[in-house]
Amino acid sequence: MIVIMGAAGATGGATLRSLATLGAPSRALSRDPARLAAGLDERTLARTEPFAADAADPDSLRAAFHGTRQLFLTMANSPHQVRYELNAIDAALDCGVEHIVKVSAPAAEPDSPVAVSRGHHLVEERLRSSGVATTVLRPYAFMQKLLLLAPGIAAAGVVHGAMGQARCNYVDVRDVGDLAAEVLTRPELAGGTYPLTGGRAYSHPELTALLGELLGRPVRYLDLSPAELHAHLVERAGMPGWLAAHVVEIQQLAAVRRETPDGTFTHVTGRSPRTLDAFLQEHLHHFH
Ligand SMILES: NC(=O)c1ccc[n+]([C@@H]2O[C@H](COP(=O)([O-])OP(=O)(O)OC[C@H]3O[C@@H](n4cnc5c(N)ncnc54)[C@H](OP(=O)(O)O)[C@@H]3O)[C@@H](O)[C@H]2O)c1
Repeated sequence: MIVIMGAAGATGGATLRSLATLGAPSRALSRDPARLAAGLDERTLARTEPFAADAADPDSLRAAFHGTRQLFLTMANSPHQVRYELNAIDAALDCGVEHIVKVSAPAAEPDSPVAVSRGHHLVEERLRSSGVATTVLRPYAFMQKLLLLAPGIAAAGVVHGAMGQARCNYVDVRDVGDLAAEVLTRPELAGGTYPLTGGRAYSHPELTALLGELLGRPVRYLDLSPAELHAHLVERAGMPGWLAAHVVEIQQLAAVRRETPDGTFTHVTGRSPRTLDAFLQEHLHHFH
């Protein structure tokens, strides 16, 4: 049995759906399994065992991992993220889980300029030193997060950022789920580290030009300083300060470390990644 943490979230949900498409059953963890089940389509629900667990409660994790062999470990960003993921690893080791697939991020290094990535590094180190078979996924920014820009675009035709002309390797989270499902069902793929990108990187000016073309009206990119973007996200978009700081750090990282598409997804799955153009067309109604 495969256990999916964060199964109601972006990467966990995508992985659950991709596994169901392959016909593989999973145990799907959530603090609110009824809400999780209500959000699933019939085919996915038929292959899924919704299960209550809270990463703050090690006993609930051990109950969830009992008798299972593989864990897909993903967790919402929060100030508690590292503690929650370490709790999950300890419980999985107690229960004899044999393979853990961890959702990490680019630049997961001890001196990373992105605090969340330093946390991912700590979790990866714990996995490596535990001796359990470990697979690491390193997706870049999810296309789905672009929907957060929709209100600003619908209201004023503006996107705010602090990354100048730097490009971003947007990846559709459904491709993260597809790759994860391959890794969880093909033992020969276990143990690797998989960067995940789309087929083309876009700067904010390129993104707004594409959106403007699809919407048939201009969309402007307003380039701010990091401090201005932080203030905008907190005061105008209502983001908590730690999350606004994370967004600014990610954009600053893209500005100093060039993002270019990676062929890993195609190499593993035999197909091209989903495109940003197709994603935006599919979700265009959000931007009107
Ligand atoms: N967003 C991006 O563009 C991006 C890019 C690269 C890497 N990443 C990495 O991807 C990872 C996963 O992101 P995501 O977007 O899939 O996360 P998400 O959708 O924000 O959240 C995933 C799940 O975390 C669960 N969770 C939170 N607190 C919990 C707790 N105490 N116990 C159990 N579960 C808990 C929630 O489940 P319930 O509420 O159902 O319990 C939630 O559904 C992050 O660590 C992030 O750093 C993200």
